[in-house]
Amino acid sequence: MRGASVRTPVAILPHASTITVCSQKGGTGKTTAVRTLCDVFRRIGLDVLAVDLDPQGNLSDYFDVPADASPTIADVLAGQARAVDAIHDGSVLPANLGLAESELVLAGKMGRELTLKRALREAKRQYDLVVIDCPPSLGLLTVNALVAADYALISSEAEYFSLQGVEQALEVVELAKESIHPELEWLGIVLNIADLRLVHSREALQQLKERFGEKVFETVVRRSVRYAESAERGISILDYAPDLGSDYLRLGEEVLGRLGDDETASRVAALRADVDPAQVSAG
Ligand SMILES: Nc1ncnc2c1ncn2[C@@H]1O[C@H](COP(=O)(O)OP(=O)(O)O)[C@@H](O)[C@H]1O
Ligand SMILES: [Mg+2]
Repeated sequence: MRGASVRTPVAILPHASTITVCSQKGGTGKTTAVRTLCDVFRRIGLDVLAVDLDPQGNLSDYFDVPADASPTIADVLAGQARAVDAIHDGSVLPANLGLAESELVLAGKMGRELTLKRALREAKRQYDLVVIDCPPSLGLLTVNALVAADYALISSEAEYFSLQGVEQALEVVELAKESIHPELEWLGIVLNIADLRLVHSREALQQLKERFGEKVFETVVRRSVRYAESAERGISILDYAPDLGSDYLRLGEEVLGRLGDDETASRVAALRADVDPAQVSAG
């Protein structure tokens, strides 16, 4: 189901729309997707808050937050800092290993699934979009991220068991919806880190499409070693390899389209035409 007819465009909402990117395991390109989608949305002028909810802190690293930055999301979840005071550089709510412990602390609290949602309420008013990166598991942190979100986006690597992983992630999305957060919308699945020259990648895509139809984003994010290189150098793939980065421009355009915001989606389309005219005309 596309949200175009029911959703209010992001730009005129009283608070930011929130997208949570999750998957059942690590290495599915979640953090890269969050980072690069944030880059795309910022380039069309949106004010975006990136929230790192993974104790590994990869997203925080990507955005050059020092490892000893304080306070972090862990302090926010523990009720020891306000989210607005933990935002680094006006753009990222960082995490570090301390977050692993706060997951345990959270587990024993009343309203444990609602903690992030409540904590972000004030900060959300100051942004157009919030994008949350999840840990590589479907535990309490991911549940918090889903409950705090308007939309869930599942990232799946193009491997033999990807369908199974997506089913598991989707179960948690459905559970959050049924038990706590009925308005949560499942935005779709992106096939990530895919080499469609390989039979198993093509099979993974076909299986996902058979099972989930239009929920599978048309954009497939291609696999390339240049992602690891760009991460190492701290340069967005949009700049490091614009030809590859165009995958994320297309994905960003699709995401905003599914949020019902055709105006911002068309801004991404214009950016894509600038960056890579050949790709656009090739469709
Ligand atoms: N499209 C891609 N092609 C190749 N490697 C990628 C791609 N996207 C991400 N990577 C690399 O794969 C690894 C896992 O990606 P990451 O985004 O950290 O996944 P996750 O957050 O799901 O664990 C990282 O080393 C990253 O640089
Ligand atoms: Mg990650």
